[in-house]
This record gives sequence, structure tokens and C-alpha cells, in this order.
Amino acid sequence: MTKGIIVSGGWGTRLRPLTCTIPKSLIPVVNKPVIERQILLLKTAGINEIILAVSVMSNVLKNYFGKGEKLGVNIKYSDEKNPLGTAGAIKLAEDYLKDENFFMLNGDIIINFDFKEMIKAHEKHKGVGLIGSKIITDPSRYGVLIVEKETNKILKFLEKEEYKPSEGKHIPMPINAGVYLLEPEVFQYIKPQKKVSIERNVFPHLARENKLYHYSIPGIWKDIGKPEELLEGNVQLMNDILKNQKSNNENLIGGNLDVEGKVLLKPPVAIGENVIIRKNCQIGPNVIIGDNVYIGAYTEIKDTLIYNEAYLSENVKCEKAIIADNCLLHDGVQLVGNNENLVILSSFVEVLDNVSLIAPPKSSLSVCHHDVVRLDVD
Ligand code: GDD
Ligand code: MG
Repeated sequence: MTKGIIVSGGWGTRLRPLTCTIPKSLIPVVNKPVIERQILLLKTAGINEIILAVSVMSNVLKNYFGKGEKLGVNIKYSDEKNPLGTAGAIKLAEDYLKDENFFMLNGDIIINFDFKEMIKAHEKHKGVGLIGSKIITDPSRYGVLIVEKETNKILKFLEKEEYKPSEGKHIPMPINAGVYLLEPEVFQYIKPQKKVSIERNVFPHLARENKLYHYSIPGIWKDIGKPEELLEGNVQLMNDILKNQKSNNENLIGGNLDVEGKVLLKPPVAIGENVIIRKNCQIGPNVIIGDNVYIGAYTEIKDTLIYNEAYLSENVKCEKAIIADNCLLHDGVQLVGNNENLVILSSFVEVLDNVSLIAPPKSSLSVCHHDVVRLDVD
């Protein structure tokens, strides 16, 4: 049976300060950790044996998923003392994976498609690897695939910075979406006990030997590597869940919601369990609220992600912001980001009465975990 390995050991530096307290692969997307959604997708395709290749904050991941009982799958861990790179990570798990082909997923991507279709494509091409691809208008921050249209063969794999568009102008290109179906033969290309990157050291080699193909993945796709992408990805997924509500059993509004009086909800909005919303609030569009959150009266929130156990007092305004778990915003607080730069509060931040945090046009505004903000910043 095909197995799955999710590489989830990176530092997630571009998502700091969120990733100072939450490992990147446990960052919630529409109120579920990004890799929990991947695990559930694998399970839907009948893939129940899953390995998490962990390193940074591995204990937090192990505590969260255990042996996979809650999700109804069998989870094993391959623990690197120091990050071994994406290929080094799977090489360490070779004993689990050496018998059949397996899916390898980057643990920071939002996807929602049927893996069984990808298995069918792999059986047709018979390569050592099949790379999930997506056409992207500006491919500069991804691995770029130079492909042969008729056969789907990858002629060249160019990791970030290696791709130089002609005349310096970016045009839409198929990129590496971070979803792979690999044959155990791939292990012959990876030296053991070394830091090795599958994108820089293995895929270019396989492409030169004509053993690499691509599969254009349907549906949504987002790498949550940066805060703006994290917000965009959450909104994409929320719209996707709404669009396919008949076939997925997911309800965007959790149980035990306590709404007082008149509240304006502008969809799309997702709300977790046990949320209290007081009177005259305006929530949405593009808002996700986690579990056990309190929203005080006259509060306005749009384009914002709020994680579990946050408390927003009265008359708070949030726009283009990410508020991590356990934050406390007092009366009249304003968080206002812009399209390129969000306002980000890491876990357990407290913002005192009437403080405004307004992101300047060209730099981000983020607050470290457990900090108390007493003065306006703009
Ligand atoms: N276990 C383990 N060990 N995991 C790792 C390590 C490691 O040493 N290094 C990175 N990872 C995990 C990260 O946690 C993440 O889930 C995944 O590998 C990819 O790493 P990123 O740091 O997010 O890479 P990227 O987004 O810049 O680029 C990759 O993804 C793009 C698509 O999203 C590349 O694969 C690109 O080619 C690709 O286009
Ligand atoms: Mg990434």
C-alpha cells in the first residue's frame, strides 16, 4: 500500500513570530492545523500509514497527533536531531518507505484534491517521481519545472533562484507544488546522514535521467510560507469548503456559538467551538475565529485570523491582522495592516486600552509572544 510522509521540520522563519510558539505545520488553516488537513486527505485516498518527518519543535507535533488515534490513521515519527533537509529527512525514514511508492508532502501547503487520481497518473508515466505542479504567474519564489507538454516529462527542475526568465520578465510557469509521488528508487540518489535537499540535489538529477514527470493538481493550492499567503490560503480554503459543502461534511460555524443581539456576519466567515460574540459586532468578510474566543460588543473585524482562546474586549477594530492564541485586546484597540504587511500578534500578547497598531506601508508590524503593548505604533 502507498504510504505518506510529510516533511514538517523546517523553522518557518518567514512566519515568525507566529512560529516562535507554533510549529509551522501546526499553524491553523480554517481552524485545523495545515498538516491535519493533509493527513485527512491522505486518509480519504485510503492512505493510512503516515510518517511525520519532524525536527524543530518535534515534541509539540508528537503531543498533538500521538499515534494518529484521533484521526483514525497510523502515525509514526522520523525525528532528526538537526534538520537534515527535505531529502535527508526522507532518507532517515527509508526503512518505513523502502517497499512501495509513497507520497511526500511539504507540510506547509494548502491543497484539496484526490490523491487517487495522482496515483493513476503515476502508473501511466512509470517514472521514479511524479511532481504535483501548479501554474503560477510569478514563479520566482518556487521551484520551476521546464516540461515537455505532450508527455508531461520534466526536462529541467530549477529550484528557487536557478530559474532566470528571458529578459528578466516573469511569465506563468508550472512550479513545484510540494506534493510528490516517489518510488523507493529515489533513495539511491540520497547520501545517508547528510543534509540533502530533494529540490536542489535529487530532482535535477532525476530530470536529467528522464525519470521525472509532473501532474497538474486540480483545485486550490497555497504555500503558507509568509503571513499574507497564510491569510490568502485560509480565505481560499474557506471559499472552497463553502463551494463544496454538499460533498464535504465540514461546517464553517462550530458548536455552542453564543451571539448576543444584533451581529452582522459578512461571509465568508468561519467560527470555532464555544465562541461568544456580543452585540452590534460586524464580522467579515474573510474572518476566521478559533475555539473559545470572546468578541466584545461593537467590535469590527475583517480580513483577519484569530486563533484559539483570544479575548477581544469592546469596540476593537481588526483589519488585515493575525492574532495568535491567548491574546488579550483591551477596549478600543485597533490593529490595521495592509495588503503587503499584516499586523501580527504572537501567542499571549496583551494590547492595552485604545492602543492602535497600524502597519506602515513597507514594513510589517509584529509583536513577540507574551509582550504587553502600551503605546501606539504606526
Ligand atoms: N523534516 C524536515 N527537515 N523538514 C524540512 C526540512 C528539514 O531539514 N527543511 C524543510 N522542511 C520542510 C518544511 O517544514 C516545509 O514543510 C517543507 O519542507 C518545504 O520547506 P520550505 O522552507 O517551506 O520551502 P519553500 O516553500 O521555500 O520551497 C519548497 O516548496 C515550494 C512549494 O511550496 C520547494 O520545494 C520549492 O521547490 C516549492 O516550489
Ligand atoms: Mg514552503
